[in-house]
Amino acid sequence: MAKIFVTRKIPRNGLNLLRAAGHQVKVHPKSSAISRKGLLKGVKGAHAILSLLTDKVDEELLAAAGPQLKIVANLAVGYDNFDLAAFKRHGVLAANTPGILTAAVAEHAFALIMACAKRVTEADRFTRTGKYKGWEPELLLGTELAGKTIGVIGLGRIGSQIIQRAVRGMDMKATYYDVRRNEAVEKEYGATFAPVADILKTADVVSLHVPLLPTTRHLIDAKALRSMKRTAILINTARGPVVDEKALVAALKAGRIRAAGLDVYEREPKLAPGLAKLPNVILTPHTASATVETRSEMARLAAQAIIDVLADKTPSNLIPLA
Ligand code: DGY
Repeated sequence: MAKIFVTRKIPRNGLNLLRAAGHQVKVHPKSSAISRKGLLKGVKGAHAILSLLTDKVDEELLAAAGPQLKIVANLAVGYDNFDLAAFKRHGVLAANTPGILTAAVAEHAFALIMACAKRVTEADRFTRTGKYKGWEPELLLGTELAGKTIGVIGLGRIGSQIIQRAVRGMDMKATYYDVRRNEAVEKEYGATFAPVADILKTADVVSLHVPLLPTTRHLIDAKALRSMKRTAILINTARGPVVDEKALVAALKAGRIRAAGLDVYEREPKLAPGLAKLPNVILTPHTASATVETRSEMARLAAQAIIDVLADKTPSNLIPLA
């Protein structure tokens, strides 16, 4: 019987699958993150680990688990918490949950775009705190999206769905940057390919969909923010460190851009000083993929990768170890 360590409470269907496959499943019983000490202790002797994006899976952790460890499956599509070189050294497989959270994250990015453009959270606070005294011609003016340009940086599955929704649903124009051109998206939605610098200068909404890599850390820094339109909206549902959060606070405070919608933060769960006080930012707690459908599908896919590997099968969602 193989031992599986699950680093946090996850949707029950994932745990049921693991147990139904006849494995011994140990779960860190809280919905808050496990301490590093608890993690290093918990993984000892495990043949498989089901990890979360808050768990750093590195040399130390793989060594602590022991040579019997076969796979670590991350309950996330992003895997910047994995040191893939260490996986390779230890001969351990890595898996993630691609494809299934595309719609949930694209919808959430759109919720942030709309809420920023229409100042939804400001208007809600205004109304519920009794400030609404009657209709005014220039009360809480927002901006329309129809006819405006969305700039998508990172055109994977999620970025492509953002363009689809923007062009088809909102009558927007689209421009994008990715390391690879995507002629299908260009043809289908009239999207134009442009360098990041051009997108920043011209887009009315900039939506980030890149993985966190050395090349994307602080992609949006003070200089990038200065080059954006003063009326622009910045959306980040990718990874916090892609944006220099301190520089963003300064830019929002000075009105150098109109607004930002953030689901991820540079030092999660901490926020940069001053960020939460700004009226022109909308903050959600890394919940872009948090729908009932998606989270249970993520649990299923991560659990299935473990079951497959323990049965000497190759799951479709292995991360290439280069
Ligand atoms: C992921 O899967 O990488 C997301 O950030 C989790 O919502």
